[in-house]
Amino acid sequence: MTEKPDGFDSSLPVHAKPHTKKGCIALSEYVINGRRKLNGVIDIQGAKNSILPILAGTVLCQSEVILHHCPNITDVETAVRILRCLGCVVRRDGTTITVNSRNMHGYAIPDELMREMRSSVMFLGAILARTGYAEISLPGGCELGARPIDIHLNALSQMGMIVEENHGKITGRTVMPLHSANINLSFPSVGATENIILAGVLARGTTVITNCAREPEIVDLADFLNRCGAKITGAGDSIIYIEGVDTLSGTQYSVIPDRIVCATYMAATAVSGGKVLLRGVIKSHLDSVTTLIQQAGCEVEYTREGISVSSDGCLKKLRLIRTMPYPGFPTDTQAPFMAMCCFAEGTSVFVENIFDSRYRHAYELCRMGAEIDIQGKVAIVEGNREHLSGSVVEAKDLRGGASLIVAGLGAYGTTTVKGGQYIDRGYEKIEEYLGNAGADIVKI
Ligand code: EPU
Repeated sequence: MTEKPDGFDSSLPVHAKPHTKKGCIALSEYVINGRRKLNGVIDIQGAKNSILPILAGTVLCQSEVILHHCPNITDVETAVRILRCLGCVVRRDGTTITVNSRNMHGYAIPDELMREMRSSVMFLGAILARTGYAEISLPGGCELGARPIDIHLNALSQMGMIVEENHGKITGRTVMPLHSANINLSFPSVGATENIILAGVLARGTTVITNCAREPEIVDLADFLNRCGAKITGAGDSIIYIEGVDTLSGTQYSVIPDRIVCATYMAATAVSGGKVLLRGVIKSHLDSVTTLIQQAGCEVEYTREGISVSSDGCLKKLRLIRTMPYPGFPTDTQAPFMAMCCFAEGTSVFVENIFDSRYRHAYELCRMGAEIDIQGKVAIVEGNREHLSGSVVEAKDLRGGASLIVAGLGAYGTTTVKGGQYIDRGYEKIEEYLGNAGADIVKI
């Protein structure tokens, strides 16, 4: 067993009082009457995959952090519960979250919170950098195939973490502070890149990450930490330099818009027909997605306020869609775009290169009448505008769930999407945003 470092009082209520209501995840389902045109404006929520590592980053700050544009989604609630378990003071007021970690005293994340979402693992680098000792367990999250954390653990070990794994429990300890390292990632893992950045900002010396992830959410995390006093350069490129500093202060920061949510609403507009302005997006984050939306036959207009998508509902096939690390086509958008292709005339082919089991939505789409043939990482979609009709289907993961909503919007009749709690992990009030634009959708 790893000894806890001096000064750690195990009587502290780190495990004892997780702010979680165990077993109380609110089940929900969405009921959609399809074939209604969409028209109007949708304001795009803050990015889930930015706010989660940024909330982990607040652990490193010695004074108050005020975060704006935080989406109201259950994954953010989970991250807030983790922060509270660690002894951080967190307040939420609408889309603003205030975190004060000055008196943080915890070092352990309860298993039930680790199981709720994979990005809980991001707290490992941050807690370790702050306290020198961290206890987590193997993270849960959407089941998208094997999702190991070996790249995270190898990288943190190179920075001085001594890791012990015992029946799913992982402890990391280090002599403070962590030291810098030259880390070459075997795959540009988003989460591992973020974990190294979080561990590196307070480390001794300059940490260099090569073959790192280049996603906009990495840049957002680096921008936030730099505002707190960190010295990170290169985020957005494939080499990142993190010059360690002694301490981080607080700041005010606004999270970037969610490009995946935006892409989902693009697909929803494409299948429904109509015209929707997606307000407040960053256009360059969506290049790979808008190119395909145009290929599908939609008109895309860039306005001062955002991106406007219009569709007459007659969609063209997309030939070949390969998911790739950014700036390639995002794996998180594969499912909603597959739903869209079910309505396009002709054969579209998807190749999923990031996760080895991210086609579970395809089987549910087939219940609605879609023709999809899965062969390993390839999915062949025979599209037809008239084939899909309402059914009872079940979300098995977040983006797959969103794809069923897209399909329900384009299908004849009534679709019930069970497992709505997966969708609620990442989509803020999806029924309200789509309903305001003319969709007939309710959440139960
Ligand atoms: N991988 C390993 N070992 C590791 C880490 C990753 O083998 O230690 C593998 C994974 O199994 C996977 C691939 O590398 O096959 C990519 O994983 P990555 O680490 O890049 O993904 P992640 O950090 O777990 C984030 C997003 C995901 C998104 C992926 C890929 C967050 C909170 N999550 O996950 O978002 O799909 O990057 O872009 O940022 C979603 O929002 O629905 C979602 C799943």
